[in-house]
Amino acid sequence: MTIGIIGSGAIGTALARVLSRAEIEATISNSRGPDSLKDLVRELGPSIKPGTREEAARADIVFVAVNWTKLPAAMTGLPDWNGRIVVDANNPIEAPLFKPADLGGRVSSAVFADLVPGARVVKAFNHLRADLLATDPRSDGGQRVLFYSGDDAAAKAEIAALIERLGFAGLDLGSLEVGGKLAQFPGGPLPNQNLIRIS
Ligand SMILES: NC(=O)c1ccc[n+]([C@@H]2O[C@H](COP(=O)([O-])OP(=O)(O)OC[C@H]3O[C@@H](n4cnc5c(N)ncnc54)[C@H](OP(=O)(O)O)[C@@H]3O)[C@@H](O)[C@H]2O)c1
Repeated sequence: MTIGIIGSGAIGTALARVLSRAEIEATISNSRGPDSLKDLVRELGPSIKPGTREEAARADIVFVAVNWTKLPAAMTGLPDWNGRIVVDANNPIEAPLFKPADLGGRVSSAVFADLVPGARVVKAFNHLRADLLATDPRSDGGQRVLFYSGDDAAAKAEIAALIERLGFAGLDLGSLEVGGKLAQFPGGPLPNQNLIRIS
């Protein structure tokens, strides 16, 4: 299983950090190219490699963490998705104005899914602040909860397994329509809920 990350900002880096902590290999990318990522990957550790957006997009599982209005450009001209898994870690709002995007009444993951035709989209890794997401998920006497949702059961099972391997407690919220909305910021009640599963 190969992993790519598109976006190397707050959330892309947090994703890379949790993967690195679990010694899982991944290719991280941004709009400026691999050279701009040299210092970051040195700090992240040996399992994280810099790559182009296209290289990251060829992985079996592709995390996308890009500013909402920049997503169309970031998802353009990539190889066919062919059923590969794309994790939507995005929210339909962005700095500095924090004005919610006009989604035409749809859940943001449905809008996002239109940008990655043929991919199996799983919504996850979007409900916590980046600094919290990056910290050790085994804390406060338990495991930090990560929500996930999606319409493809097998894709969700793969992401659920990865979430557990990273040390989080995964919680399946159902379909993109239902679960995506619950965890979406703004719109759902779950963003910023730092829940811990005590086992
Ligand atoms: N920050 C949070 O705490 C938080 C929490 C939950 C969810 N989110 C969501 O996560 C997503 C990313 O947020 P962020 O805070 O990580 O943003 P960010 O720090 O501004 O980083 C955005 C990243 O997107 C990359 N990017 C922009 N255009 C691109 C393109 N055409 N091709 C490839 N990469 C491109 C940027 O690369 P360059 O720098 O090279 O342009 C940058 O690495 C957003 O949808 C946000 O709503 C954020």
